[in-house]
Amino acid sequence: MTEALRVERRANAAVLTLNRPERQNALSRELVAALGQAGRALAADESVRAVILTGEGRKAFCAGADLKERSGMNEAEVLEMLRSYRSELGWLSSFRVPVIAALNGVALGGGLELALACDLRVAVDTALLGLPETSLGIIPGAGGTQYLPRLVGAARAKELILLGRRLAATEALGIGLVNHLVDDDADLLTETLNYARPIVEGAPLAQAAALEALRAAELPLEEGLAVELRAYEGCLYSEDRREGLRAFAEKRPPKYTGK
Ligand code: COA
Repeated sequence: MTEALRVERRANAAVLTLNRPERQNALSRELVAALGQAGRALAADESVRAVILTGEGRKAFCAGADLKERSGMNEAEVLEMLRSYRSELGWLSSFRVPVIAALNGVALGGGLELALACDLRVAVDTALLGLPETSLGIIPGAGGTQYLPRLVGAARAKELILLGRRLAATEALGIGLVNHLVDDDADLLTETLNYARPIVEGAPLAQAAALEALRAAELPLEEGLAVELRAYEGCLYSEDRREGLRAFAEKRPPKYTGK
């Protein structure tokens, strides 16, 4: 049996590939569990500087819940599945290094929700994005109703979810739902690794501190600013901060060590 999730290393980045192309990389129980397991394994690997989440093939990043598996589930099993989204996928939005979704094709329903949980989204210019759940008599259940308005604002999120409207990649770029587009003919993974280079090769402590502070942007302003100050202090006494200043003065690229 092929693995539902492939985990590979490309330099300092971990690449997770949803690998169920015959089902448009839909989220089965097995795939959700494999994502959770991968997150737990990566958490212990300090050498990983970024995680890239992508899908096998050129058609779909992920077509959401595995609707064939779902049709055989009773209500209690569906509820169990929704809970497993929290326990197994929650790490994507709180991981210690940035998680980047590389959308190689359609991202629908739970597939888009996976991408929304990530810190950044890169997509091929032919990708199609949407949350069509209400048209199936349900609602997004893997965080979509919470992530989407935080990312694109309440009005656009309501439009996408209540109307179940699908967006072309260029439109998604225009509203900030996607950060960066890649030509469909290009190698998406190579382009995503290039895009992520400042993260993967940047100052590790500064990257971690910035991520922590940025994630506090949902807090009331005073609390968020307090998190920013604490996070800055994490860099203040670092060798990397001194190296950054030295490199600037000596007009050379910095060499960061994470110390
Ligand atoms: N779960 C399980 N199987 C899925 C699936 C899903 N979410 N989405 C697609 N598949 C399967 C199809 O049933 C088909 O299998 P078959 O060959 O045994 O019939 C195969 O993947 C190919 O899909 P197909 O629809 O023929 O390809 P397409 O290129 O015409 O369309 C999609 C691709 C993704 C746009 C289309 O399949 C689709 O809209 N899927 C449903 C997405 C959705 O509503 N997700 C939200 C779930 S809440």
